[in-house]
Amino acid sequence: MATKSKANTAAPNTFEQLLDYGKNNGYKLDWLQQRETFGDELDAPSNGGGLLLQDVDSGPFAEVPEWTNNVTGRPRGALTRPSAARIGKYGIRTKADVWLKNGAQLYEEAVQRQWSSATDIPWNELEELPDEIEQAECQLATFLTEVEFVAGDVPGRWISETSPDYYEPRMFLISQIMDEARHADVFRKRALANGGGLLQQNSSAALAGASIDSARDFTEMSARLHISGEGLVLSIFRMGERMAYNNAEKAIYRLAASDESRHVAFGVMHLQYVSQTDPERTEEIHSYLDEIELGLVAGTGGQNPAVRGTPSNAAIMTLLGGGTDEASLREGEQIAGAVRQRQVKEYIQRIKVAGFGDRFTNGRAAAGLTEYISA
Ligand SMILES: [Fe+2]
Ligand SMILES: [Fe+2]
Repeated sequence: MATKSKANTAAPNTFEQLLDYGKNNGYKLDWLQQRETFGDELDAPSNGGGLLLQDVDSGPFAEVPEWTNNVTGRPRGALTRPSAARIGKYGIRTKADVWLKNGAQLYEEAVQRQWSSATDIPWNELEELPDEIEQAECQLATFLTEVEFVAGDVPGRWISETSPDYYEPRMFLISQIMDEARHADVFRKRALANGGGLLQQNSSAALAGASIDSARDFTEMSARLHISGEGLVLSIFRMGERMAYNNAEKAIYRLAASDESRHVAFGVMHLQYVSQTDPERTEEIHSYLDEIELGLVAGTGGQNPAVRGTPSNAAIMTLLGGGTDEASLREGEQIAGAVRQRQVKEYIQRIKVAGFGDRFTNGRAAAGLTEYISA
């Protein structure tokens, strides 16, 4: 056992002396070995947004391996420690399986744009509404609370699957879970804040979530969740201006849409990275899109606002048309049909950006889908 003595207090001159000094005094000082990066100066931050991850990551810290055996939780670029335990049984250890260009930027944006459902929504502007309009808001809010609950579940389980060498997409997913929690909470608040309450569950949301969650591969999950599911939800949020009856509702839809567009962008950018770096997967990805488009064309899910017969869609039509009388519902249905068109057009545009647009010109896309391109 090391004991202190006067002789050991002499200041060490070399690293070896320092190690001896530590050993003799019971300290482990080998971490004081200076790294090759010691003394490096940062380039000036790239913009006025403060110190961003992409500003500090350089040299060995920015080297993202194509494949990693880092299963010990070691931060990317840190020195290894041979005694480290294998704490992570990560399924994602190949870069292209989870990577995207500008993942750090997207994460930083997510952090900067966090908002609070408690203080950023002007709840005092909620007004007393006609009963059927209040009920429609409550029914839609119930549906969206359910949808957002699932939207947090699905990406959540991929976080612990991802090696810390790919920390940018991993941390983006963590930010997404926070966003989805806030969405679930803000729609719950809307249902309850104006004397209405949560109305009927819409089980199709849970079923859609279960189907997305059955994906065994991250890219497959991401295409189904970020591009398809969240893309459709984003289109619904974007018509919030027309479904809102006061500034509180407008703010809810606007802020939720801003988060949702980031989640969709993550999916598009990831799929684009796969298409550019892993062409062997092209056919496999097309087969996921085949499946997604069959769902889009069938359009029976709760995310297609133009289908009658689900409580949430009837609520959307009521809000868009301004009432539950026949003329209002018909008008609401027409507007919902236009929104549906936009949903599909936006889906097609995203798939083009992701690098799989050839399917819309070579006859591969689902029959009935391409008619939206020319419409
Ligand atoms: Fe969401
Ligand atoms: Fe989302």
